Amino acid sequence: MHSALFSPLSLRELTLANRIVVSPMCQYSAQDGNAGDWHLMHLGNLSVSGPGLVMVEATAVEPRGRITYGDLGLYSDDNEAALRRIVGFCRVYGASRLGIQLAHAGRKASDHLPWEEHGRPLMPKEGAWTTVGPSEISYGDAWPRPQALDAAGLQAIKQAFVRATRRAARLDFDLVELHAAHGYLLHEFLSPLSNLRADDYGGSRENRMRFPLEVFAAMREAWPADKPLGVRISAMDYAEGGWDIVDSVAFAQELKARGCDFIDVSGGGLVPYQRLAVGPGYQVPFAARIRQETGLITMVVGMINQPQQAEEIIARRQADLVALARGMLYDPRWTWHAAEELWVDLEYPPQYRRCQPSRWPQAFPHRQAVE
Ligand SMILES: Cc1cc2nc3c(=O)[nH]c(=O)nc-3n(C[C@H](O)[C@H](O)[C@H](O)COP(=O)(O)O)c2cc1C
Repeated sequence: MHSALFSPLSLRELTLANRIVVSPMCQYSAQDGNAGDWHLMHLGNLSVSGPGLVMVEATAVEPRGRITYGDLGLYSDDNEAALRRIVGFCRVYGASRLGIQLAHAGRKASDHLPWEEHGRPLMPKEGAWTTVGPSEISYGDAWPRPQALDAAGLQAIKQAFVRATRRAARLDFDLVELHAAHGYLLHEFLSPLSNLRADDYGGSRENRMRFPLEVFAAMREAWPADKPLGVRISAMDYAEGGWDIVDSVAFAQELKARGCDFIDVSGGGLVPYQRLAVGPGYQVPFAARIRQETGLITMVVGMINQPQQAEEIIARRQADLVALARGMLYDPRWTWHAAEELWVDLEYPPQYRRCQPSRWPQAFPHRQAVE
C-alpha cells in the first residue's frame, strides 16, 4: 500500500528511505565529551530499526557549551575518535542515515545531570563553569548571570561551530543540524527576552538574527556542498513579548537565502515561565506555516507517536519529516511497527528477519485476516 510516511525524500545528494527521524536526544553519558558504550548501544540499536534518519544528540562545539558534564562534544581529537567508533558501527550494521546536531548551551550550560538535579545549576564546589550569552540575563532566579559575549567571544564561538562542522564532515555524517532552539545560545540571541544588546547583534529582529545567521553561513561554507545542513528552531517562546511564529518565518526565509535545506520545528525552552500548550502534534501548525510561506522542507517534532498521525502529517503536506523523541525511547522499533500498521513491507536486518510478522502470521491477528 502507498504510504506518504514511507516514501523517500531527497535533500541535496542525500536520499532518506522514509520520513521518520529519531529526534536528537541528549544521553548525558559522555566523559569529557567522548561518546562511549552507551552511545554504541543507543545509536546502534536505533540505526538498525528502520528510521530514515537517526540524529545524534546535541553535541557541544566547545566545553563551555555543554549543558552538563555528561554532554557529548565535538571539540577535540578525542571526541572525534570516540564518535568515529559509534558512526562506524552504525554504518556497518544499520541502514539509517546519520545526522548530528551541533549545539552551544549558552546561559543554560553548567547544569546537573537530569537524573540528579536537573534545573539546578552547578555550584562552584560542584565544578560550575562560567556561562556565556548575548546579555547578562540569567535563565531564572537560581541561575548565574552569563557573561555577555564581546566581539572576540562571538568570533571564537563561530569558529568553534565551524571546527565542529569540519569534524562532522571528516566523520562522514550525512547531515548536520544547527541547534537554535530550546533556549540555548543561538535562541538566546534571537529572542528579545534574552537579548538586550545595544550593538549590531541586538535590538531589531534583523540584528538579533545576525549572529545565528553568521554562524549558519560559516558552517554552510565548511560543510560539503552535496550534503544538507538544517536548523532546529523554537517556533515560539510561549511567553509574552517573546519570539513568535512570524519571527520564525522571517528567520527561515533568511536561512533559506543562505542555503539552508530544512527547518526542524520545535518550541519553547527560553524562559522558565513559558506557557506551553502541549497536545498531540502541537507544533504541526507552525511547521505547516513555515513550509507554506517559505517553501522550505520542514521537520516537525512534539508528541507525534501514532503511525496514522505521522502518516497524515506527511500526506497532508504539513511537514516533510516527522521526528520522534520519547516515542523512540519507549519503542525503538517504532518504525517497524508503523510499517506493519500502514501495510508497508520493510527490509529488516538479516539477523532479525525471522521476526517480521509476515514470516509468522499465526502470531499476528491482522496478518491472519489476509492469509
Ligand atoms: C531524553 C531527551 C533528550 C533530549 N535531548 C535533546 C537534544 O539533544 N536536542 C534537542 O534539540 N532536543 C532534545 N530533546 C527534545 C526532543 O528532541 C523533542 O523535541 C521533544 O522531546 C518532543 O518530542 P517528543 O514528544 O517526540 O518526545 C530531548 C528530549 C528527550 C526526551
